Amino acid sequence: MAKMWAGRTDGATEKIADDFNSSIRFDCRMYRQDITGSMAHAAMLAGQGIIAQSDADALIEGLSGILEDLESGKLAIDMECEDIHMFVEQVLTQRLGDVGKKLHTARSRNDQVALDIRMYLRDEIAEITELTRTLIAAVVTKAEEYKDAIMPGYTHLQRAQPITFGHQLMAYAMMLLRDIDRLADCRKRMNQSPIGCCALAGTTYDTDRRFEAAKLGFDGICMNSLDGVSDRDFCVELMSAISMLMMHLSRFSEEIILWSSWEFKFVELSDAFTTGSSIMPQKKNPDMAELVRGKTGRVYGDLMALLTTLKGLPLAYNKDMQEDKESVFDACDTVKMCLKVFAPMIDTMKANTANMKKAAQKGFINATDLADYLVKKGMPFRSAYKISGQLVAQCIQSGTVLEELPLEAYKAHSELFEEDLYQDIDLLTCVEKRVSEGGTSVASVEAQIAYVRSLINV
Ligand code: ARG
Repeated sequence: MAKMWAGRTDGATEKIADDFNSSIRFDCRMYRQDITGSMAHAAMLAGQGIIAQSDADALIEGLSGILEDLESGKLAIDMECEDIHMFVEQVLTQRLGDVGKKLHTARSRNDQVALDIRMYLRDEIAEITELTRTLIAAVVTKAEEYKDAIMPGYTHLQRAQPITFGHQLMAYAMMLLRDIDRLADCRKRMNQSPIGCCALAGTTYDTDRRFEAAKLGFDGICMNSLDGVSDRDFCVELMSAISMLMMHLSRFSEEIILWSSWEFKFVELSDAFTTGSSIMPQKKNPDMAELVRGKTGRVYGDLMALLTTLKGLPLAYNKDMQEDKESVFDACDTVKMCLKVFAPMIDTMKANTANMKKAAQKGFINATDLADYLVKKGMPFRSAYKISGQLVAQCIQSGTVLEELPLEAYKAHSELFEEDLYQDIDLLTCVEKRVSEGGTSVASVEAQIAYVRSLINV
């Protein structure tokens, strides 16, 4: 096919080289941003007297017609074109003749592609943020439902202290809140306009970069033209924020997978978010959670791929940079899919509070509270600690738990024990005593819920 850049060369390349060189397969998704950017460019060119207003009007009308035809399906993207930028310009020139050829004045594909990606990813950030917000809402609602459901809290995956399921869930709400914050922070640096940097050095035309930037909703402009066309930090930053978000989803998934096992039986996922086995009839597999955990590796890969692509690049544009899009698009697509499945999976997840409580009872996680009881009655802590330990050993021997040991058994160790000890070692009491801010008491969890709700308006 005749190339728009034919001139220095005849533009006749090998088909295999064309295919290798082409990016339209994946950059076609930026058609809207490309067209919108070009409309602003045409308006700027006319405003500065670089082209006639009538030409700009024709260009803008032509571009808007292309957009309409693409959206209605009347016009199909020609996959033989090198990229989406060339495609739009080619159709415009076919439709308008010579006027179409004026659009590319005072710009280059280098600043054009940088502009398009920033605009495209800006929208992706808005979408990912909204999906994360929806997930937080689901998590907070679950936390509210289970704010007094006792479960073991773990360290080293060993039962440590009693907490509530609501408290555990709110930990994830806090992580996701930080993810939203990171996305917003990334957007700030992304939302600077590179258009007008041209190929690398700026331009001799009297352009107005700030007019174009404002028209396209940017907060400012890239202040160095070499940097403007070479910078892909915003892609790396976004993938890094997405990687962190995926890491949170993956840790959450891992817990859901564990909790769904017969060994734990703490939660049950809805049938709609599990799969069966083709051979083992008893199976109900947490595939969605496993896939989210698996896809986290893929997103880390996207991040590493672009970091590695960029690390040795001299200024300014290099074709290597065309590799940015597949990584960053894949990371965005993947995290969006994961968030879309995660929120309803949490929404429909049920906790088996009886099993959670049973697990909390078996680990003697109230032994510290038992020692504290004796201390409260006047015994030195070391002595109380020893008696508490002996009582745990006795329970293990006789296959019981502290809550069920009769008062006489307690009294055999110390006369300080009274009926009220049962109240003190009751797991709910243990939880309720942890009233420090951010702690596991019901009131503390309620405060956490209110805090998150107020921040993200859910
Ligand atoms: N398709 C290219 C990319 O995605 C557009 C920029 C091409 N610029 C150039 N000088 N070849 O990076």
